[in-house]
Amino acid sequence: MDLFEYQARDMFEKHGVPVLAGIVADTPEEARAAAEQLGGVTVVKAQVKTGGRGKAGGVKVAKTPEDAQAAAEAILGLDIKGHVVKRVMVAAGADIKEEYYFSVLLDRANRSYLALCSYEGGMEIEQLAEERPEALARVEVDPGRGIDLDKAREIAVEAKFPTELVEKVAPVFVKLYEVYVQEDATLVEVNPLVLTGAGDIVALDGKVSLDENAAFRQPDHEALEDKASADPLEAKAKQHDLNYVKLDGEVGIIGNGAGLVMSTLDVVAYAGERHGGVKPANFLDIGGGASAEVMAAGLDVILGDEQVKSVFVNVFGGITACDAVANGIVKALEILGDAATKPLVVRLDGNNVEEGRRILAEANHPLVTIASSMDEGADKAAELAAK
Ligand SMILES: Nc1ncnc2c1ncn2[C@@H]1O[C@H](COP(=O)(O)OP(=O)(O)OP(=O)(O)O)[C@@H](O)[C@H]1O
Ligand SMILES: [Mg+2]
Repeated sequence: MDLFEYQARDMFEKHGVPVLAGIVADTPEEARAAAEQLGGVTVVKAQVKTGGRGKAGGVKVAKTPEDAQAAAEAILGLDIKGHVVKRVMVAAGADIKEEYYFSVLLDRANRSYLALCSYEGGMEIEQLAEERPEALARVEVDPGRGIDLDKAREIAVEAKFPTELVEKVAPVFVKLYEVYVQEDATLVEVNPLVLTGAGDIVALDGKVSLDENAAFRQPDHEALEDKASADPLEAKAKQHDLNYVKLDGEVGIIGNGAGLVMSTLDVVAYAGERHGGVKPANFLDIGGGASAEVMAAGLDVILGDEQVKSVFVNVFGGITACDAVANGIVKALEILGDAATKPLVVRLDGNNVEEGRRILAEANHPLVTIASSMDEGADKAAELAAK
């Protein structure tokens, strides 16, 4: 789960990372009041979960509360890379002397953590990494040791901070690492981290991604969820503990186990090439126990996606045998009744497959086609979606 900047700011503050005051506002009037409360120069910032807000006109300096109101007026409703701004943060204006970059993230490929740091800020980090890779330090962080003061100094030196600044930024890196570990984040990024005219180091922007697998031990994180703009189908899937990811194509996919579902995506995409470029519409993993209720919930989610033209159910019977899965599908179609309107291709294999196929054949549902292999099923589903 990605946080909004204002949420990251609050989290930073809680862990002792130096930040400036910030007040959120949902209307221009609220922005004006916030600027009055803060006093002095403020910066009105779009709160959207995407980068490049400044370039898109989503960050504006305001000298007076009237300016802040006008800035909020201009920013609220703005579309930044497909994200419509519903809220701004009015932040105290910083007197920026220099801008730096720091992030710590999960490095899956190396089964480690990685700190990225640059003394040269004010540039998009992707651009910096590409054009001047030598200016971006990449320092592996041993998860067992983390970032203590020594490690933080090493990162700063590696990033070519001058000696007098190393001692200033290192404690901030330690605090940011605390946020990373204690909040179970997979990314903590500050761009820019600034040196002010008064000589203070301040995090002026924050991006935090939280690891949802740690939700069970982070009871405070639920309140950070952006329920209002959650995809309704994803919310529904979550309610039923289904792993659902919306994709862009036409073939709905239901499988059990992430490995099988992922290879089903590949096979469907491949088959789709023969049928006018049809692609998977989603990823839905119903997990181990494919009961009728779970299957009904899964189908309900997938059929609710208007883009779906056909559904491919690809299940390998294990602990939950194929006959139970077949009964689940038949009952699910009963439960859904008229809500089930799209053709379903079902491929079952594994434990009790014969009985499973017999149950489906006997039910003889007009929407259901039985496939005997994964390739055949994918081809049929793609063909139906292309019609
Ligand atoms: N509180 C502030 N006071 C003064 N200047 C600020 C403040 N916040 C941001 N800025 C300036 O605006 C620039 C852009 O701000 P910020 O980094 O928050 O947005 P962004 O980089 O455009 O967005 P993103 O990080 O999402 O790509 C900063 O580099 C900084 O120069
Ligand atoms: Mg930024």
